[in-house]
Amino acid sequence: MKDLMLLLLFCHVVSPVKHSLKFFFTTSSGAKKFPDFVVVVLIDEVPTGYYDSISKIPEAKQDWSQKMLEDDPQHLEWYTQKCLSTQYSYKAHIDILKQQLNQTEGVHIFQRMDGCEWDDETGEVNGFIQFGYDGEDFLAFDLKTLTWIAPKPQAIITKHKRDRDRPHNERWNYYLTQGCPELLKTYLDYGKSSLLRTELPSVSLLQKTPSSPVSCHATGFYPQRAMIFWRKDGEELHEDVEHGEILPNHDGSFQMSVDLNLSSVTPEDWRRYECVFKLYSVKDDIVNKLDKAVIRTNWVSLSEFPAGPVIGGVVGLLLLLAVCITGVFIWRRKNNDSSSSDPSSVKDAALN
Ligand SMILES: *[C@@H]1O[C@H](CO)[C@@H](O)[C@H](O)[C@H]1NC(C)=O
Ligand SMILES: *[C@@H]1O[C@H](CO)[C@@H](O)[C@H](O)[C@H]1NC(C)=O
Repeated sequence: MKDLMLLLLFCHVVSPVKHSLKFFFTTSSGAKKFPDFVVVVLIDEVPTGYYDSISKIPEAKQDWSQKMLEDDPQHLEWYTQKCLSTQYSYKAHIDILKQQLNQTEGVHIFQRMDGCEWDDETGEVNGFIQFGYDGEDFLAFDLKTLTWIAPKPQAIITKHKRDRDRPHNERWNYYLTQGCPELLKTYLDYGKSSLLRTELPSVSLLQKTPSSPVSCHATGFYPQRAMIFWRKDGEELHEDVEHGEILPNHDGSFQMSVDLNLSSVTPEDWRRYECVFKLYSVKDDIVNKLDKAVIRTNWVSLSEFPAGPVIGGVVGLLLLLAVCITGVFIWRRKNNDSSSSDPSSVKDAALN
């Protein structure tokens, strides 16, 4: 169960931004069958690089990121150093945290996410770096003031220490606003035939039981910048609607869905509803009218298949796990202290 929890912590959530480069560093302690240290690199939410404490060698996850590493040995060197230095400083760090929190056993996780977003239409750039401990917010960098934000009183001392290390903060600022966007643009250029493609999804209407909400499900689209919603008489609906998250498929495409609760809608009114899928950069929407005849369901009377919902739940969980391993973060809140490795050199700052 612990391993399952760990994987769920890594569940992948996609944000609707233009282009992004993100590094996820995860140090864990006490987790069996899972490397102590894992780095995942995502470009536009597509896994492009991977490193772990077992192989200690950065690995490209796409042909084009492999080509970029081969063409630019300096970048490979930078990437290797970034992984190695973070691995060693965080190994020490998670031990200090555990000690401070009297955590002698159990699984503990220390994470960092850093990266940048770039809007290729407006030219706008945004950088970020955040730390987390056991899945909870720990410390974040404010690029406007070049200071650190501590969500918990326990991290205040660390915050002040880091705030005083101005050169270190300046280097982060430079990396997040200059180095990272440049790197992102280079990656995008190498990967353009794949990253800048468009793929339309297949869209279906699904319903578990005759009284369940109708789910409009789109799968197989790319890029992830897409919208799906229900319309009634041509107007977007906000009530009785529940939006799902965008999730990655194994083939690099994405899926998402939106549910509509029809419990108070009469059968005659069904034809006034339709589901709309919009893909960024594609002019024509995919529109599905709400129609009993096209709804797909596996529903069979429960007396025949009493285990149906249970099996469905387990399969759902496995599916979630299957799409979730690419690297992630959820932030809750906890305690104490932090450290980082430098963007460009190995220099550990402000350990408590
Ligand atoms: C850890 O345990 C020691 C001794 O058992 C105690 O004095 C200390 O207050 C504990 N620290 C925390 C953070 O709970
Ligand atoms: C659908 O709406 C009805 C009444 O508006 C509510 O009782 C029911 O719980 C809702 N169903 C779901 C699955 O949200």
